[in-house]
Amino acid sequence: MSTLVIVGAQWGDEAKGKLVDVLGSQADVVVRFAGGNNAGHTVITGGKTFKFQLIPAGILHPGTTAIIGSGMVVCPKGLLEELDRTLAQKPDLGTLLISSAAHVVFPYHRMLDALEEEARGANKIGTTSRGIGPAYQDKVARFGIRMGEFIKPELFEMRLREVLAYKNRLLQMFGSPTVEFDALYEEYSKYADRLRPFVVDTEVLVYKAVEADKKVLFEGAQGTFLDLDSGTYPYVTSSHPVSGGACLGTGVGPRAIQSVLGVCKAYTTRVGSGPFPTELEDEIGEFIRDKGQEYGTVTGRGRRCGWLDLVVLKQASRLNSLSGLVVTRLDVLSGIEKVKVATSYDFEGEQIDHIPANVWDFAKVSPHYEEMEGWDGDLQKCRTMDDLPSSARRYLDFIEDQTRTPVAIVSIGPDRDETIVVRPQLIWG
Ligand code: GDP
Ligand code: IMO
Ligand code: MG
Repeated sequence: MSTLVIVGAQWGDEAKGKLVDVLGSQADVVVRFAGGNNAGHTVITGGKTFKFQLIPAGILHPGTTAIIGSGMVVCPKGLLEELDRTLAQKPDLGTLLISSAAHVVFPYHRMLDALEEEARGANKIGTTSRGIGPAYQDKVARFGIRMGEFIKPELFEMRLREVLAYKNRLLQMFGSPTVEFDALYEEYSKYADRLRPFVVDTEVLVYKAVEADKKVLFEGAQGTFLDLDSGTYPYVTSSHPVSGGACLGTGVGPRAIQSVLGVCKAYTTRVGSGPFPTELEDEIGEFIRDKGQEYGTVTGRGRRCGWLDLVVLKQASRLNSLSGLVVTRLDVLSGIEKVKVATSYDFEGEQIDHIPANVWDFAKVSPHYEEMEGWDGDLQKCRTMDDLPSSARRYLDFIEDQTRTPVAIVSIGPDRDETIVVRPQLIWG
């Protein structure tokens, strides 16, 4: 079997998109399994910058089949804009397919996202306001409309009438304007017409590719600690970014997964609210944000920045059954004299090395740090481990030791070429 899952090991934006692009050149099928256009995956290659939100980043390789899996929620308008934009940049893309079981995001989901955030008051999550939570709520409540229904006009009309009547009652309860059926149906029918050729039962296709020993890459979005169950609830997204989500969101069973790589930055970032024990609200945090250009692809918000948290990575390794780590953005830390790494937490007088499940307890932990020698110079030019400064190599060794997870790949710049493959045997198993 040649299957690989790529997940975010922290709170998102770890550079999964870059990795999927790099490894996508070897894949026959790339299938994304979770989230919607709350994701922003940047790929830089050949002097061009591509920004993916719904389309799997593997689509840049013409021989690849890129699948929007059943675990995703899809904004049709956003998807068509993204497709047009990407085709304008690169006409020879891989083949795009959309699972008939993926759910559709409608404007009322966005309206409800805003209303729910308002209702949360001081405890707001800081969502991307793309309607993701409400779309997944509809899926669970059996009010969702799937792609397979959306592209069949009579089915779409029947389901939209049923769902919209209910949604409008909900919107009225909030004192919000309601959504008119005819205008919505007309606008979205046009999107459905364009998307129809892409929609198929992709689950069979993925399964057959796995069975035929093709290389199948499962592309994650968001990050482990944004997972609905395993993350820092309620400051999470509404899907399953962990490796188990690759099965749920594409229709394969756990034994179809061979290898799992967890992508992490050499430090930590988080967008939106929620506890972040190693957050740096000082000049070092500012240095990282500036040098790393840590601003969200989707919302433009400044990302919160902090030291690397190995408690987070140890837990990510466990939750995802990681085969290996991909450490990205090592170049950004260059120029800091002493770097710190959290190895455990102090929590109510005890030393712990896990994240308390109750987020309000997590908010009380204080990190225990190891201080290490920093490094200097332009790491983006390095192409082998030997090219890296010795203190940067020691930093990577320390990560491996503490997490008991080998480093498979190191990324030292945004470009496809700025990648050091350390242990190729960990990639496809
Ligand atoms: P994703 O959501 O996990 O795909 O990550 P994003 O694309 O949101 O954010 C990662 C950012 O880091 C993008 O702007 C990438 O171009 C950039 N990037 C990726 N790898 C590296 C790296 O090793 N060094 C630097 N400096 N930037 C990187
Ligand atoms: P990628 O795939 C970083 C965060 C939001 C918010 C929380 C819930 O680019 O790594 P949502 O709109 O999903 O209901 O917001 O989750 N969030 C992300 N943070 N990267 C992402 O995706 C994210 N997707 C959602 O900021 O805190
Ligand atoms: Mg991102």
